[in-house]
Amino acid sequence: MSSIKSTVWKLDPHTKAKHEILEYYLKQWFPILTKWSGRVVYLDGFAGPGIYSNGEEGSPIIALRTAVNHVLRDRFKEIVFWFIEKDKARAKKLKEVLKDRFPDLPSNMVYEVEGGEFAPSLEKTLDKLEGEGTRLAPTFAFLDPFGFSGLPMELISRMMKNPKCEVMITFMTDFINRFNDEERERALNELYGTDKWQKIRDIRDSDERTRFLIDLYQEQLMELGGANYVRSFEMISKFNKPLYHLVYGTQHWKGLKAIKEAMYRVDKTGNYRFSDRTTPSQTTMLDYGVEAVWVAKAAELIFKAYRRAPSPIPVTIIEKFVITRTPYVFRKSILRHLEEKEKIVDVKIPKRKRRTGYFPDDAVVTFGE
Ligand SMILES: C[S@@+](CC[C@H](N)C(=O)[O-])C[C@H]1O[C@@H](n2cnc3c(N)ncnc32)[C@H](O)[C@@H]1O
Repeated sequence: MSSIKSTVWKLDPHTKAKHEILEYYLKQWFPILTKWSGRVVYLDGFAGPGIYSNGEEGSPIIALRTAVNHVLRDRFKEIVFWFIEKDKARAKKLKEVLKDRFPDLPSNMVYEVEGGEFAPSLEKTLDKLEGEGTRLAPTFAFLDPFGFSGLPMELISRMMKNPKCEVMITFMTDFINRFNDEERERALNELYGTDKWQKIRDIRDSDERTRFLIDLYQEQLMELGGANYVRSFEMISKFNKPLYHLVYGTQHWKGLKAIKEAMYRVDKTGNYRFSDRTTPSQTTMLDYGVEAVWVAKAAELIFKAYRRAPSPIPVTIIEKFVITRTPYVFRKSILRHLEEKEKIVDVKIPKRKRRTGYFPDDAVVTFGE
């Protein structure tokens, strides 16, 4: 499905942006998960050769480096890095690059390169674990294929049903929009876990088709995979060309918080724009670069949600609202904005005096009308 046949290839700017998101996410994910779990797994199901033609790092190297250099690395209990790569030459290259870059890993980290295909490899592992009556350790699966085959929804759903498992998927929406012919029907049925995607053949408008394709994929991840939070970010180039969607699915809102923070960091480079599909009928262009603009928009959404609340609202509930129900990241500056505009009329914090603009996590907030 891909036109790239060489073992290594040139790094695209959008892949670089995706790598930055992955790195910022993992910086937050490793400490969060290793705090509560013994072993955690980083699964890179379409791992690639580990290096690009000008020596830039591939996703497996980025993930390992992030863990090895992490300030909290000594507190991690055990991280298993599981890399799967179908192409023999790329798998071999990956092993060489890993050996060269990480000759001695800390004792709490281990990696394995499996030459083979993602789906049968994961299936085999899940069968084995289920046969033994055990479960998959908390896993973050980065699934980054060139096209859309070899990524069955049924398998992703099966993995997501294990506690604390999450996915970040490169979803080639544009590619599917263009190539959904009969030849690819089987792959698409597998990708979605349903044949409902075929409805796009009745939709004329290309943007509408894209929206339909990504919405259905998200719905399937929630319905079949049991993900509590699914969020997709459309990667759009600076030339306003849609590239693909990064689809993220998790069971916990703190995962969503971490991925949004990662997006926020990368967007500030100014090179990319992300559109966030918070509700199926609405796409929001995120302009994180101009804080004054998005803070006011986020504040408005909070005010609308809580202005008639019968009792004061804890700051932590407002944070969760912003993370799970709006396209934005949470910042205390949003609350300060509401206080300045007199839309927050009272703030209480236990056992200490408060100065204006101070919103500690244990504060409760009363909104005006
Ligand atoms: C987009 S590249 C991965 C890039 C890598 N994740 C990174 O960010 O550096 C996709 C890789 O998946 C491999 N691949 C294709 N089909 C596969 C499958 N079914 N299972 C595992 N790997 C596959 C390709 O050979 C290719 O190296």
